[in-house]
Amino acid sequence: MRPVAVAICLLLAKAGLAQPDPELLARGRYLGEVVAACGACHNTFGEGMRPVPGMALAGGRVFAERGFRAVAPNITQDRETGIGGWTDAQIAAAIRDGHRPDGSLIGPPMPVESYRGISDRDLAALVAWLRTIPPVRHATERSRYPFALTPHGPAVASVPDPPAEDPVARGRYIAVNLAHCMDCHSAQLSEGRTDPEGRGARGLVLEGPWGAVQAANISSHPEQGIGRWTDAQILAAITRGVSADGRRLAPPMSGRAPTWARMEARDLADILAYLRSLPPQDR
Ligand code: HEC
Ligand code: HEC
Repeated sequence: MRPVAVAICLLLAKAGLAQPDPELLARGRYLGEVVAACGACHNTFGEGMRPVPGMALAGGRVFAERGFRAVAPNITQDRETGIGGWTDAQIAAAIRDGHRPDGSLIGPPMPVESYRGISDRDLAALVAWLRTIPPVRHATERSRYPFALTPHGPAVASVPDPPAEDPVARGRYIAVNLAHCMDCHSAQLSEGRTDPEGRGARGLVLEGPWGAVQAANISSHPEQGIGRWTDAQILAAITRGVSADGRRLAPPMSGRAPTWARMEARDLADILAYLRSLPPQDR
């Protein structure tokens, strides 16, 4: 077995399937429901983009943008239409390495590039949480990409937790790897790949019923970015979905505000510290 699989199995073995370690499970639920908000993409949505009750994480949301048509799969514990038949290591590999048990690659907008940096412990926590999702039978369509998907790199060996006492490093981990803020808010190299030198620059153009909206520059640039915003104004954008001038932000941003409003105060403070540390970008 590869080292990563061993590490994750050890953590999960410690969690124990019958009696999951309550702390690990609580961490996984917090990450899955709040910080990473997997349901923002993987829930089943009905009229007016409202989640269908009883179908949490049952999939079907269509991302028809940038020339592709991706469909979020069912990631409930249903064995036939979900991931109930996958092993813990297979689920972990889907999230962090971007491939399914049959070897097929997982494409955008699943934020694999960002999730490659999820720590071993947080990955084990997410898998433990996914195991508790009630099975929902719901077959979803396959995604269609007009380009060949390429692997995101070799399997991730092992990722430590970020240093606990370093707000910028913790904030970077939360914003980049868990909440995947910088997938949208970075200069783009190609589909599903961002420019690490362009973090905070104007980024993805997101299309939907709201039209086409570009992720704003959130670097420390005083005019192009949010360098002159107060902490309260930045927090209001994240947790209430409003810009510094009071304008309601478009749904790709404001839609997650009610979820991110539930983020722990320390995590929000660390995201702020990280955003403040971003060098000014004028693009
Ligand atoms: C921005 C939207 C988005 C977010 C956020 C997201 N996903 Fe995905 N995910 C997708 C899409 C779309 C696919 C399918 C891509 C494809 O068909 O190649 C996918 C695929 C998957 C798969 C493979 C399932 C299968 O049957 O093929 C798993 C497992 C998964 N996601 C788990 C997660 C977890 C856990 C989270 C939160 C930590 C998450 N995803 C967050 C959009 C998202
Ligand atoms: C799915 C893509 C996406 C993700 C993920 C995302 N954003 Fe945004 N964000 C946007 C878009 C698009 C806008 C612009 C909306 C508009 O102009 O109406 C925006 C606007 C903002 C603004 C307001 C900027 C301004 O000038 O008004 C801030 C601040 C911000 N985002 C921070 C964040 C942070 C922090 C995170 C992670 C916790 C995040 N965003 C995650 C797409 C995203």
